[in-house]
Amino acid sequence: MPASDTLHLMTDRMDEVLRRKAAALAGGGPERAARQHAEGKLTARERIDMLLDEGSFEEMDALVRHRCRDFGMGEQVIDGDGFVTGHGLIHGRLAYVYAQDFTVFGGSLSETNARKICKIMDLALKNGAPVIGLNDSGGARIQEGVVSLGGYADIFLRNTLASGVVPQISAILGPCAGGAVYSPAITDFVFMASGSSYMFVTGPDVIKTVTHEEVTKEELGGAHTHNAVSGVAHFQAPDDGACLRQIRRLLTYIPQNNQDDPPRRSANDPPDREEPALDRIVPSESNLPYDIKDVIHHVADAGEFFEVHEHFARNIVVGFAHLDGRPVGIVANQPAHLAGCLDIDSSVKGARFVRFCDAFNIPIVTFEDVPGFLPGTGQEFGGIIRHGAKLLYAYAEATVPKITVITRKAYGGAYCVMGSKHLRTDINYAWPSAEIAVMGAEGAVNIVYRRELASAADQEAARKAKIDEFNSRFASPFVAAENGFVDDVIVPRQTRPRLIRALRMLENKVDAMPRKKHGNIPL
Ligand code: HXC
Repeated sequence: MPASDTLHLMTDRMDEVLRRKAAALAGGGPERAARQHAEGKLTARERIDMLLDEGSFEEMDALVRHRCRDFGMGEQVIDGDGFVTGHGLIHGRLAYVYAQDFTVFGGSLSETNARKICKIMDLALKNGAPVIGLNDSGGARIQEGVVSLGGYADIFLRNTLASGVVPQISAILGPCAGGAVYSPAITDFVFMASGSSYMFVTGPDVIKTVTHEEVTKEELGGAHTHNAVSGVAHFQAPDDGACLRQIRRLLTYIPQNNQDDPPRRSANDPPDREEPALDRIVPSESNLPYDIKDVIHHVADAGEFFEVHEHFARNIVVGFAHLDGRPVGIVANQPAHLAGCLDIDSSVKGARFVRFCDAFNIPIVTFEDVPGFLPGTGQEFGGIIRHGAKLLYAYAEATVPKITVITRKAYGGAYCVMGSKHLRTDINYAWPSAEIAVMGAEGAVNIVYRRELASAADQEAARKAKIDEFNSRFASPFVAAENGFVDDVIVPRQTRPRLIRALRMLENKVDAMPRKKHGNIPL
């Protein structure tokens, strides 16, 4: 071919590339984009721009088209097919991203855009970087039938294979139904935007037909429901922008993959800082509450704590902080809610967080003040035995550095569960206010001395004497310390420096599980 013809062809082809890319950029068109904005939502591309470092997005597969020819779909072909996929940087670190464009067939998943997602997930696994999905989708593309379902299953497989290898993060930024909720459910963290995002397997109309229940989509699957009631979501933000900023913040605490260390930052707070307020934080009356988050804020670098699952199972608090610039995962019983009891939801919440930290090399710091497992038929019938065992299992299998501080109560099975020495926790500290026993003194006396007290001349005086005896023996950290189950009883104000020294000491820790295919956590 003569050189002038080659040049001509190149120019024509480049014009076509530009034409097709412009079509991909336009998505479902200005009217549908305006509808997104009117609903307080951003478009897929606006979201990616906000999520990634400026100018860092490299798009892939913008020229992909769907192959469906049924139901008039042959006349509705849009370049990119409504999913925007590629990679970019967040705080200068590589991240893979996909965003569903609700303006194109309601962000529904076609066979071809399932392949687009699988392509970036495969790259993420090979290159060891997080995958972030921005979901705004009506689920499987109805016109495509089983090939769309197959596309979802291909994604679920990759979500599962990537679990524990690279962090996977999902933002729910619109109405997500069917398959559009199961992929996020397998990922590590689910973020939702209030008032504009919904997650459900079947929507309100189907529910009305099948069970005759009337429920709004907000009640059924809004951000509050999934953050506070079901626990499906971990974060709730007022809008898309805030949600994307939260994701950027989360990534400052976690590594790129399971072979990587979490990113250290230069410390902005003296490592030897003592905090006298901690000496007075536990009330003198053992039954009075205090806010464990005050303890966390006093200890963490610059008082910063990034709470996960803030609104769900508030009797346990989990989240990330820095100690001398090192990211740590914090798990803490919350005496200000249900007295800090462990129940089904808090056990599952804690277990999931502990397993995330362990999978991604993030040391676990536990603050313990737990009167035991919550009694009652609701808990027993709901399977507290099985669910409580998850937390036990998660702590026991975790091989990352583990440090526990008992601030007050460590009673019964809950003592064992919450990062006890017996579950190969590396460093166990107790404050002088610690009470470590099988149960509270009153309960113990009622069981152990029931007969003796029944025949006592002055039952009240006898009971009080026995309770005092129990308290003086067990309502302290000393028996545990005498046995080496706590390594030291520390002055509360020195908690931060002691934790930082322990973390330094554990920096090169190596521990392992016996060889096995995988364990069988009691699901
Ligand atoms: C094709 C779809 C679609 C879908 C929406 N659209 N969902 N197209 N396949 N799944 C299209 C609509 O036809 C419409 O096109 C446009 O997207 C916007 O949808 P609206 O209904 O106008 O928007 P809205 O009122 O905001 O309602 C959003 C919605 C609703 C709640 C998501 O569209 C809906 O209920 N969709 C179906 C959800 C569903 O049942 N999906 C299948 C799940 S099964 P026009 O041209 O009019 O703008 C599944 C299987 C996987 O996913 C299972 C794995 C375990």
